[in-house]
Amino acid sequence: EKGGWSSFMAKEVSEEPEAVANTVRGRVHDGQVVIPELEGLDDLFTGIRRIIVVACGTAAYAGQTGKYALEQWTRIPTDVELAHEFRYRDPVIGEDTLVVSISQSGETMDTLMAVKYAREQGAKTLSICNTQGATIPRESDAVVYTHAGPEVAVASTKAFVAQITALYLLGLHVARLRGSLDADAAAQAVAELEAVPEKIQLVLENEQQHIEQFSRWMADTQSVLFLGRHVGYPIALEGALKLKEISYIHAEGFAAGELKHGPIALVEPGQPVFVIVPSPRHSGELHKKVVSNIQEIRARGARVIVVAEEGDAAVLPFADEVLRIPLADPLFEPLLAVVPLHIFAMGLSTAKGLDVDKPRNLAKSVTVE
Ligand code: F6R
Repeated sequence: EKGGWSSFMAKEVSEEPEAVANTVRGRVHDGQVVIPELEGLDDLFTGIRRIIVVACGTAAYAGQTGKYALEQWTRIPTDVELAHEFRYRDPVIGEDTLVVSISQSGETMDTLMAVKYAREQGAKTLSICNTQGATIPRESDAVVYTHAGPEVAVASTKAFVAQITALYLLGLHVARLRGSLDADAAAQAVAELEAVPEKIQLVLENEQQHIEQFSRWMADTQSVLFLGRHVGYPIALEGALKLKEISYIHAEGFAAGELKHGPIALVEPGQPVFVIVPSPRHSGELHKKVVSNIQEIRARGARVIVVAEEGDAAVLPFADEVLRIPLADPLFEPLLAVVPLHIFAMGLSTAKGLDVDKPRNLAKSVTVE
């Protein structure tokens, strides 16, 4: 039941902190990640040379977000592929490949067929799933459940943060088995993960009203762009997908570095652009580069809405709206940065008088190919 909430989606966004906390619970022992469901299954991880994540929609964006941590921590090359594209290109897979599927429902036909195909080719399969006993986990060698609780709104929100959490846990579990991450770094990552629920709660408390307010002013907006870089890139894609789904307006996510290779031509005066700004503590000067992207679009009249960490003052001169997220290690920022985007999609849909929970033409679980 939705209780006092205006929609299931509003309730489910408010449950994002618990979705992360409940997914972590019982999987950390003495500061190390040990996933009980994977006990006795070390063979799945010891001989592999490649990980391929298969999923659709929001679950695929969770996969794209998790790829950075998986590779960094396990040093296993990781690719993410849309499940419905995967088996139609004769992929090079075999027993050295671990195919990780991600699905909230566990019933998505495209993802199920990709898993079956992977098994037929001799690959090992692991399912990240939110629904106990669903078809995809039953067809897989192993399962790591997300504990987001039932998700009723068609647009996925709390399952998304739980999926990223599960991928991070998987990464830390595998890194421990393979000895690919030193103990301090692993303990630091665990501490960061455990701190996420409280930080999401802060974003909800501090920004919800602000976002709802400006989404009301934006009710007539025809198009919104989202820019991100590194782990912020899949978050930009997720922000755009959510807007398409429940607000029915044109929305696109881009890698910020791609801007000058084409998309900047779209920017005209008044065009709203969300920019997910990487932390200034991020390696590789990403912060500076994204701030200079912001200057470029601002010079062309864009209405800039930034999602930036607390205390980042470099964005202030160029932003029309600033949405703040608490400090976190760069790999954990996407779990915070996505929250304002979920709230915004809901806010705009509500401002347009649409049914937030049941968008037209969509079903919660897509059981046909
Ligand atoms: C987006 C959304 C869809 C699903 C996708 C996969 O808000 O709801 O893109 O994420 O259809 O569904 P599952 O995770 O059930 O396989």
